Amino acid sequence: MSDRNEVEDWVINPELSSDDLEGKQAHIDNGTEPLDPYRYYSEDFMELEWERLWTRVWQLAGVESDIPEAGDYLLYKIRHEEIIVVRQDDNSVKAFYNVCPHRGNRLVFNDRGTLMQFTCAFHSWQFGLNGCLKKITDEQTFKSDVIKHRPGLTNVRCETRAGLIFINMDEEAPPLTDRLGLPEGYLEQYQIEKMNVVRHVVAEWGANWKNGVDAFYETYHLHAIHPQTQGVMADIGTQYDLYPHGSQRMIVPIGCKSPRVEDQESVDAGLNYMMTSEGMDASKFTGTASEVRFAIAKHKRERARKLGFDYDHFSDTQLMDSWATGIFPNVQIGMHPEGCFLMRFMPHPTDPQKFYYDTMSLFRAAEDPNYKAPDWMGVPDGIDLTGSHRPDTEYVAIGEPANLGEVLEQDVQLLQDVQAGTHSRGFKGALWGEQEQRIRHYQREVDRYVDGEK
Ligand code: FES
Ligand SMILES: [Fe+2]
Repeated sequence: MSDRNEVEDWVINPELSSDDLEGKQAHIDNGTEPLDPYRYYSEDFMELEWERLWTRVWQLAGVESDIPEAGDYLLYKIRHEEIIVVRQDDNSVKAFYNVCPHRGNRLVFNDRGTLMQFTCAFHSWQFGLNGCLKKITDEQTFKSDVIKHRPGLTNVRCETRAGLIFINMDEEAPPLTDRLGLPEGYLEQYQIEKMNVVRHVVAEWGANWKNGVDAFYETYHLHAIHPQTQGVMADIGTQYDLYPHGSQRMIVPIGCKSPRVEDQESVDAGLNYMMTSEGMDASKFTGTASEVRFAIAKHKRERARKLGFDYDHFSDTQLMDSWATGIFPNVQIGMHPEGCFLMRFMPHPTDPQKFYYDTMSLFRAAEDPNYKAPDWMGVPDGIDLTGSHRPDTEYVAIGEPANLGEVLEQDVQLLQDVQAGTHSRGFKGALWGEQEQRIRHYQREVDRYVDGEK
C-alpha cells in the first residue's frame, strides 16, 4: 500500500509556499507506532510529566489585557503551584511563585487584582511589585544569618509575545522564541493585546488533559459527535500543519458544507444563519453554498473598513475560516480577527483522569456601539465588551452545566467515555490517522520531555 495519503492534498490555497503563514508546511515524520495508553491514566506518568514537562516547558499563563496597569496581577495555577504574574512600573511583566519566603504562606488569593506591594497576611512582611524584600516585621529579632540574603519572592521566568504571557519554571530552558515553534508574525497579526476577555470558564472534566487536547486537535470526529456542524463547516478538507517543538495548527473551512454532505449547492438554514449572524442580509445572497464563505469574507472586509480595523494583512481564509492553532503542550487558540478562543487543557492537581478545560473568549471592541460580538463567539447577553469590566472566572464542577453550548456538552460526555476506554486492558494505544497528525505530533513531543530528551 502506498504511504501517500490524501490528507497531503488538503491544502486551502495551493498557490502559497511554506514561507507564507497560510501555506502548507513541510511534512514532519512522527512515525506510526501506537503510544502506550498508560499515559492517559497512570499516576506515575502524571508525576513524570510534572518533573520533566510542566516544570520545564513554557506555559501560557494569561493575556496581557488582563493586567493593563502597573500593580495589576493575575494568578496562574498549575497542579500544586501558583504563580503571580504582575505588571511592573516600567510596563514589563514579572512572575513569582505565590509563596512568602518567611514561612511559606500564600501571598495573594484572588484570580486577579491590583496591588501597590505584596504584604503577607501571616506576619506582614512586605515585598515590592518587583519581588524585592521591602520590610521584615521586627527585623531586630532575627539573627542576621537568617535574613542577610534579604529574602524576596522567588522569580519565575516570564516572557510576553503577541499579547500573551508565558512562564517557565526552568531557569535553564531555552528562551520562548526558541521553543514556540510558530513563525514570526503568526500570532502577532491578530493583535490579541487589543482584545479583552469577555468570558472565562474553568470547567472540570472527567478525562486526562491529553484526552482533552486530542479531541480538540482534529475535525475527524465532527460528523459523528457534532453532526450539527456538517451544514456550516468542513471536516474533510481541513489543512493540517506541523511546526517545530510540538506546535501545530489546522485551518478549518467555515461557512460551507462538509464534503460529506451530498447537496453542495443549496444554501439552507445553517448557512443562512452564518450570514445573518455576521450582519448580512441572507435573503439577498444569490450564490451557491460553496460561495457563502467568500461572501462572508467580503462582508467582513467592508465592515472592518467602516469600523476602522485594518484587515488588509489578513487573507480571506483568516477572515472566514478557523485557524485553530496549537501551542505545545496544552493550548489551542481559535484565531479570528474579531476575537480569539483561548483554550488551555490544565492537568488536575492529583487525579490523572481529570483535567480543567480553561476557556477564554477574547473580543476586539470597536467604537461603534452597534458592533457586537458575532453569535458564534457564544458571548452571553449583557456582558461588557469594551474591557472596562473584566468578568469573573466561572468555575464549573464535573456534572454541572457550564453553559458553553451544545458542541462542548457533546465533548464533555464523549471524553468521559474515551477516558474510561483508554483505561481498558482491551485498548492497545491510539491508531492515529493523518487527520489526527497534530495529536501524534504533540504527543511525541510530550514523550521527548518525559523521556529526558529535552
Ligand atoms: S509567612 Fe509571610 S510573613 Fe510570615
Ligand atoms: Fe468535539
